[in-house]
Formats: sequence, structure tokens, C-alpha cells
Amino acid sequence: MELLETIKSRRSIRAYKPDQVPREILTELLEVARWAPSGSNTQPWEFIVLAGETLGELNRAMIERLHSGKMKPEPDEDMPFSFPTGLYKERSAKFYKKVLAVIKMQEWYEKSMSFFDAPAAIIIVTDKSAPQPWWLFDIGLISQTIALTAQNYGLGTCMVGHPAAYPKEVRTVLNIPESKRIVVGIAIGYPDWDHPLNSLRTEREPVEKLVTWRGMAEEEEKK
Ligand SMILES: Cc1cc2nc3c(=O)[nH]c(=O)nc-3n(C[C@H](O)[C@H](O)[C@H](O)COP(=O)(O)O)c2cc1C
Repeated sequence: MELLETIKSRRSIRAYKPDQVPREILTELLEVARWAPSGSNTQPWEFIVLAGETLGELNRAMIERLHSGKMKPEPDEDMPFSFPTGLYKERSAKFYKKVLAVIKMQEWYEKSMSFFDAPAAIIIVTDKSAPQPWWLFDIGLISQTIALTAQNYGLGTCMVGHPAAYPKEVRTVLNIPESKRIVVGIAIGYPDWDHPLNSLRTEREPVEKLVTWRGMAEEEEKK
């Protein structure tokens, strides 16, 4: 797939075929994705790749958390959570309106908490000694690189923040030490294109609303 087309056609995939993703494919994918840049080339990422019974166990623990009603995020101290306000709240509301047109909130939560029943998931963790503030930035870079690379293999992905919101469950099931931060999860598998959730297409702000030009030839001419 052409790079520009790959970037523009990527979308979060929230329904998957049951087909397993071969370990060799996931290895190849991570071998490519690890070429993402990072501050001073620190590469502050480690991947926990989950499938089968282990993924099932984590999903069950997360669903149990959801059903317990204790949904207030309990992130690690250096990953505090806040909710979108102002302009960001508006954009987020637009997104949820689209989600709720296809699925009920409770069902969406259950799916989000259980990696959308994807056959595999990647949890990205970083050592707590990784330099501030760039580790979070670097993990964003590798996450998007994974998402784009996955498309090359016909795979779809969806990033999920819940593992960072409820690290206790993830730590317990996967036996992750306190010295590691649980940053993000990525559901991964072959997209079920017939599922209505995968027809959800989000919007983007037009470039004119995002950019201020300074010192470009056209602007200079207006002076
Ligand atoms: C850090 C992060 C966490 C996310 N968590 C969730 C999630 O829990 N559930 C979900 O359905 N989508 C989640 N998403 C996907 C976003 O909703 C999605 O990227 C955004 O709406 C843009 O849509 P697109 O990816 O289809 O272009 C997350 C994305 C990011 C980057």
C-alpha cells in the first residue's frame, strides 16, 4: 500500500475476524515498527504481546472491573488523567455521537475494555526510569508506526487507553512489576469489514484551522 494512502485510510478497527495473527507476522511487524524515532534514541518501549487464554484472562479481569461499577480511573501517579474540556470536549462529543449511532455506551465500554475481542493485543510499557517528558511522546510515535505497519499486513488496530486507566488489573494478570508504566494497549487483528462499527469514520479539522503561517513567501508579499 502506498504510504499516503496507508496514512489516510487508517482508522480504528473495533470488530475483528476470529482468525489468529501468526506470531511471525507480529514479530515482523514489530521489527519494522521499532524504527520509529525516540528522544536520544532511548527507545523507551517494551511490548507485551497477548493472545489466547492470557488475553482472555485480562479481558475478563477488565470486564469484571467495569461490572464492579468502580470506573474512576486509577492511573499511575505520573500518568494523571483528565477529561477533555472546551474545544477538545466539542471534538470528543462529535466522536461519541458517531459511536452512539452504531452502538450503546455500555456495549462500547465492554468492547473497549476487552480489546474488541481482537485475537491479539499489544500492551506497551516503559520503564519508569525513562526520561521525562519524552517517553510518552516516543510511545505515541511507536504506536502510530505499529498501526500503519499493521495495515501493510492486512491487519487493523485500535488503541485503547484503559490499561493505563486501570493498571492494577493489568499488572496483576500479566505480572508486570511496579517499575514499569503501562502506557497504552493496541488491539490487533484482521478487520471484520461487514461489522457496522468498522464503518465509523471520524473527521479532522481543516488544515486552515490548524496552521498559522509565518514568513512564507505569500505572507511576505502581503506586507
Ligand atoms: C491514546 C488513545 C486511546 C484510545 N482509547 C480508545 C478506547 O478506549 N476505545 C475506543 O474505541 N477507541 C479508542 N481510541 C481510538 C480513538 O477514539 C480514535 O483514534 C479517534 O476517535 C480517531 O479515529 P480513527 O482512529 O478511526 O481515525 C484511542 C486512541 C488513542 C490515541
